[in-house]
Amino acid sequence: MSSYDVIVIGSGPGGYVSAIRCAQLGLKTACVEGRDTLGGTCLNVGCIPSKALLHASHMLHEAEHNFAEMGLKGKSPSVDWKQMQAYKQGTVDGNTKGIEFLFKKNKIDWIKGWASIPEVGKVKVGDDLHEAKNIIIASGSVPSSLPGVEVDEKIVVTSTGALSLSKTPKRLVVIGAGVIGLELGSVYARLGSEVTVVEYLDAVTPGMDAEVQKVFQRMLKKQGFKFIMGAAVQSTKATKTKATVTYKLRKDDSEHEIDADAVLLATGRQPYHDGLGLDALGIKMTDRGQIAVNDHWETSIKGVYAIGDVIEGPMLAHKAEDEGLAAAEVIAGKHGHVNYSVIPGVIYTHPEVANVGETEETLKKAGRAYKVGKFSFMGNARAKANFAGDGFVKILADKDTDRILGCHIIGPSAGDLIHEICVAMEFGASAQDLAMTCHAHPTYSEAVREAALACGDGAIHA
Ligand code: NAI
Repeated sequence: MSSYDVIVIGSGPGGYVSAIRCAQLGLKTACVEGRDTLGGTCLNVGCIPSKALLHASHMLHEAEHNFAEMGLKGKSPSVDWKQMQAYKQGTVDGNTKGIEFLFKKNKIDWIKGWASIPEVGKVKVGDDLHEAKNIIIASGSVPSSLPGVEVDEKIVVTSTGALSLSKTPKRLVVIGAGVIGLELGSVYARLGSEVTVVEYLDAVTPGMDAEVQKVFQRMLKKQGFKFIMGAAVQSTKATKTKATVTYKLRKDDSEHEIDADAVLLATGRQPYHDGLGLDALGIKMTDRGQIAVNDHWETSIKGVYAIGDVIEGPMLAHKAEDEGLAAAEVIAGKHGHVNYSVIPGVIYTHPEVANVGETEETLKKAGRAYKVGKFSFMGNARAKANFAGDGFVKILADKDTDRILGCHIIGPSAGDLIHEICVAMEFGASAQDLAMTCHAHPTYSEAVREAALACGDGAIHA
């Protein structure tokens, strides 16, 4: 029996980052992973492969739509799907091997197999029992199912199958206008598929700033997306080559059908903790099936921690990473901390959509007085030169103190620009602090400064 200070269960962004920090803090650490490669959903079948396909398909879009205007003439590239898949896999392999290297460098043992916790302080993998003073559960999440929709990962797919369809479908129906549906829908729309999104609610991307939701949906429509809103999917019927999706319109309960060559089910994810033996261990769960933790990420059982998608909060890789770091620090006797009010969210469509902090809707609901500083990328020279003038930066600041409360960006490199706001919020900055900070010209980031200026005496280029 081998014994460790910490055994981390799961090697996704939460688990592997946590394991590395544990090792850095002098704790003898192992990480259990049952997949053939490290990195969890994010690296293997999530964030990373989807970004590779988003990048490749965006390049095609640029070639088809913007090259000629820049004086770049010639035949547009055609899609070699097999090669695009190979590029995607190469990206994944590079990253998963990178984690293996980091594990070796930090002397972390990779215990291969699926873990269970037969008793406090013990982790079982296959026939081997390992001792652990502390256990961190980072077992992640899996796609939620929808009654009546049978996933075969060939015609009716989750995000996993959608990354490796045998060919680009002529007609793709996406169930759910959330992050996954719109990112992967974008890939196929750019590659020539006719994409129809069937969404239960009346707006895309639930929880996002309502103004951004509207503009975002309009932009996607311009890119060829079709939307059937206020529609609850009832069932799918698939053959070997196509599927029929049945949905009911909420407004009049009428039933309709739509045919597709592939269907992507993207109606959310749920915590994954099968086979860990949590019931027998008596770990307290939330009523939504998440593992309940205290503010030190410790479960109801001492010495057993949980982080990431398997606990409460947004299912985001970077939220899991931060919790992984913090839990490691707590175990090492330090003061781990996560500021849950400054967790950015990014949708990697084109343009990107990014947000942090409060929305106008949450501020109104809380009865808080706020002001809005908004700036369109149309007034940003760099964006205009790069065919990226669509979209805006919107900063929400406290009406009295000018403290930044939130930010919503739709536009070029939104996912990178948002971090300027995250840092400002971490330091309790005012919009004026940001407005007084010199921003290089010509950069997209000037749009952020202009939005900050708009919270005060006014933007210059508006
Ligand atoms: P989601 O929760 O973002 O969106 C699901 C959508 O499906 C909702 O709009 C919901 O109203 C709709 N829906 C539910 N039932 C329906 C029905 N019967 N008929 C029609 N529509 C229905 O879930 P999604 O997109 O699957 O993403 C899952 C998780 O993964 C999210 O927490 C997301 O944040 C995370 N993720 C994050 C990414 C990023 O940060 N870029 C990328 C991919 C996933």
